[in-house]
Amino acid sequence: MAADRSRMGCCWLFLFVFSSSQCLSSGADKSSRKLSMELNPGYPSKPHGGDLLHIRALGDNDTLHFLFCSQGAPTLLLVHTNTTTSTVKVDWDKFVERNTTGSLKVEPESSILYSNALVITRLLEYNDINDTAIPTSDLFPPYDLQNFLWARLNLSAPSAQLCGTPNSTNGSLCVELTAFETEGRSSSWPRLLHNTDSSQLTVSIDGLSPRASHSRFLLEVQAVSGASSLRQVDEIQSIDDEFTPSIFKVYQWVSSVNGSSDVLGFVQWKPVAYRKTNAALEDATPCRHSSPEQQNGTVTAVASGLIRAFYGESPETFGLNVSFGLSGDPFYNSTQFLSWTLLVGVGSPPVESFSPLVITIMAAGLGAPFVFLLLGGIFVCVRKKTGTSTTAYEPIN
Ligand SMILES: *[C@@H]1O[C@H](CO)[C@@H](O)[C@H](O)[C@H]1NC(C)=O
Ligand SMILES: *[C@@H]1O[C@H](CO)[C@@H](O)[C@H](O)[C@H]1NC(C)=O
Ligand SMILES: *[C@@H]1O[C@H](CO)[C@@H](O)[C@H](O)[C@H]1NC(C)=O
Ligand SMILES: *[C@@H]1O[C@H](CO)[C@@H](O)[C@H](O)[C@H]1NC(C)=O
Ligand SMILES: *[C@@H]1O[C@H](CO)[C@@H](O)[C@H](O)[C@H]1NC(C)=O
Ligand SMILES: *[C@@H]1O[C@H](CO)[C@@H](O)[C@H](O)[C@H]1NC(C)=O
Ligand SMILES: *[C@@H]1O[C@H](CO)[C@@H](O)[C@H](O)[C@H]1NC(C)=O
Ligand SMILES: *[C@@H]1O[C@H](CO)[C@@H](O)[C@H](O)[C@H]1NC(C)=O
Ligand SMILES: *[C@@H]1O[C@H](CO)[C@@H](O)[C@H](O)[C@H]1NC(C)=O
Ligand SMILES: *[C@@H]1O[C@H](CO)[C@@H](O)[C@H](O)[C@H]1NC(C)=O
Ligand SMILES: *[C@@H]1O[C@H](CO)[C@@H](O)[C@H](O)[C@H]1NC(C)=O
Repeated sequence: MAADRSRMGCCWLFLFVFSSSQCLSSGADKSSRKLSMELNPGYPSKPHGGDLLHIRALGDNDTLHFLFCSQGAPTLLLVHTNTTTSTVKVDWDKFVERNTTGSLKVEPESSILYSNALVITRLLEYNDINDTAIPTSDLFPPYDLQNFLWARLNLSAPSAQLCGTPNSTNGSLCVELTAFETEGRSSSWPRLLHNTDSSQLTVSIDGLSPRASHSRFLLEVQAVSGASSLRQVDEIQSIDDEFTPSIFKVYQWVSSVNGSSDVLGFVQWKPVAYRKTNAALEDATPCRHSSPEQQNGTVTAVASGLIRAFYGESPETFGLNVSFGLSGDPFYNSTQFLSWTLLVGVGSPPVESFSPLVITIMAAGLGAPFVFLLLGGIFVCVRKKTGTSTTAYEPIN
């Protein structure tokens, strides 16, 4: 009787660990995409004013087009189509003028399921003299990223890096784009989980001379979307920080209202930035964001050539600021480096689940005392009994 119960306890423990890890790994063999990259499609040389990278991510039934552009402020546009044969057409003469709509098209237009774009518009700096980390006053004139001098895109498939410098000072702001053939997790912190309908951007500020010794920074990002605007940021809590130590939250800026299941597009991040390139735990610095607010779409279309070319003169735009560092954290001048990573995708954002390690620890933590209690009971029973017992646990002493 006691042996049965303990065996049941054991079975329960192993079943739980087994089924949980099965459940976690079952997602791995889902969709995959074939990636191909083309720089400035259809243009023979370097276009005036900035590069345009096209990454075609071909699925079984669909195509996701990633367009990454430095005609003005750095912009990533995702266009999801329901065919495997959709193409990107650029009217280069008009595209580089940045003053006409429709100079970049995804054809056939009827195949477009959804599109969204993220523009990194401004970098703001303030003198946090009282170490409150609240940017109220004391803002320096912002860096408008549309006025940066952008270098050519540095391609190393499946990534591309874009670096620019403000005209006035040293240092650079770089944006690295990575697209994915399969689901998985990036190897560098914050090790965001990604699916094949998303791409990752890492924004880093390197060596920019601070304008005060107590300088802190904010990054302004704006989202434009074809169908359903990104209006709200949801917070997802987790007790599991195995992949991003000390960070227990994921934020997702989503297209739908009230987090209903029909999310069409998203931007997702963890509230952490890093103050060194090869970051250790102590180089992490928390981030905060403001709530999304409607922006003047005309201003966004002027800032980004790609937005104007694809969406028009005045698309509906929402924007938010991400601020780096909390009160008490080291100021920017401690390392003169910051990097922040986010995911931009179509469909629903990937959901973090408990890692197998944490599940095992939880199962052991919950199951082991129970098992030991029963084993102890059996041991006592067996000791009391005379004669041989057929319990399976005899070898334990
Ligand atoms: C592709 O389309 C076919 C037919 O519509 C469908 O059976 C199949 O599940 C789809 N595959 C994917 C990966 O969506
Ligand atoms: C766009 O700019 C070019 C050169 O600045 C000009 O020739 C052209 O007329 C402009 N087009 C429109 C539609 O404003
Ligand atoms: C998918 O593509 C077909 C053919 O281009 C089009 O007729 C259809 O409306 C598209 N479906 C959706 C949901 O956009
Ligand atoms: C900093 O604190 C001092 C004294 O409390 C106050 O007078 C000053 O206005 C504060 N400065 C800012 C930028 O908040
Ligand atoms: C281009 O990227 C590669 C890999 O990220 C890097 O090693 C190389 O230094 C970069 N080149 C330039 C010119 O930035
Ligand atoms: C950068 O600065 C130089 C000299 O100050 C100026 O000639 C040039 O027009 C500026 N470039 C931009 C893009 O602002
Ligand atoms: C920019 O860098 C150059 C050489 O690295 C240095 O001489 C100059 O002082 C720097 N300028 C600023 C504003 O930091
Ligand atoms: C950063 O600024 C603070 C405040 O002025 C100063 O104490 C510190 O030495 C500076 N650190 C560096 C690396 O310049
Ligand atoms: C979203 O939720 C808010 C408050 O919870 C509610 O007022 C609003 O009507 C909801 N919107 C939709 C579209 O359900
Ligand atoms: C948006 O910006 C444009 C150009 O700066 C301006 O002409 C227009 O009045 C603004 N629209 C609104 C609603 O503020
Ligand atoms: C970002 O912060 C700056 C300075 O406080 C503000 O002017 C701007 O409107 C903010 N942008 C967004 C999108 O909230």
